[in-house]
Amino acid sequence: MSDNRPIGVFDSGIGGITVLKALRKRLPHENLVYLGDMARLPYGTKSAETVTAYSLQTTKHLLTHDVKMIVIACNTASSVALEPLKKALAPLPVIGVIEPGAEAAVAASKTGHIAVLATEATVRVGAYVRAIHKLAPKAHVLQEPCGLFVTLAEEGWISGDVVEATARRYLAPIFKRKASPDTIVLGCTHFPVLARTIRKVAGPGVKLVDSAETTARAVEAALKAKSLEAKRKTSGKTKFLATDSAERFARVGGIFFGETIRPKDVEIVDLQFG
Ligand code: DGL
Repeated sequence: MSDNRPIGVFDSGIGGITVLKALRKRLPHENLVYLGDMARLPYGTKSAETVTAYSLQTTKHLLTHDVKMIVIACNTASSVALEPLKKALAPLPVIGVIEPGAEAAVAASKTGHIAVLATEATVRVGAYVRAIHKLAPKAHVLQEPCGLFVTLAEEGWISGDVVEATARRYLAPIFKRKASPDTIVLGCTHFPVLARTIRKVAGPGVKLVDSAETTARAVEAALKAKSLEAKRKTSGKTKFLATDSAERFARVGGIFFGETIRPKDVEIVDLQFG
């Protein structure tokens, strides 16, 4: 059995391209449709109800592209909207980034002291804490909301004085404790592009993990389990959709994707807000 329909991927903006990139690498023959809800970014400062409503609208649009699976490439949306989306879209498989990220953290940590850097909304619902405790009940998990990292990454500022000063400020409470974490979860789509600076501030002994790679593995496993893999010999295509700002999507998205994205490659879609 095979299924050549595309996989639908969405995020509040361009950060989820870190997950898209990992999917592109692991599943080279799959077609991918990525929708960035640029018009309503950020999700990370909004209520669970609002993020869930937005997530339902973005997935509804992806369904018009006849997708065979939904990947929520946004930590905030995965934290609050995974269950509602699964329920609304069943039997379509829906995969979020929190459990794969927790898995990566538990596999990396030797001491069980783990810090999670995420948006305010993800921290508020404690999704990573729950997912890590499910796998490692004795783990000590600290969380730190790091909203400014999103703004910096969106600005394309991924290193330099301002990023470093921001990282020092956010990491200070985590490393003030007696037992410092040996693992930091980059629990937000935008943070992997700042990894070099975060690592510099955290120190060489600390491992940084993110959800991108483990999510791509989870998607691969789900495709296999449900016999949904594409059977094509040629490379899969990637389609970019956004609710606003094609030029910005292309410019900053290219940094996240590691490949040039041209504004004309980004199709603007209207989710019929309201
Ligand atoms: N995509 C969001 C996340 O991973 C970060 C950006 C936002 O706040 O919308 O949590």
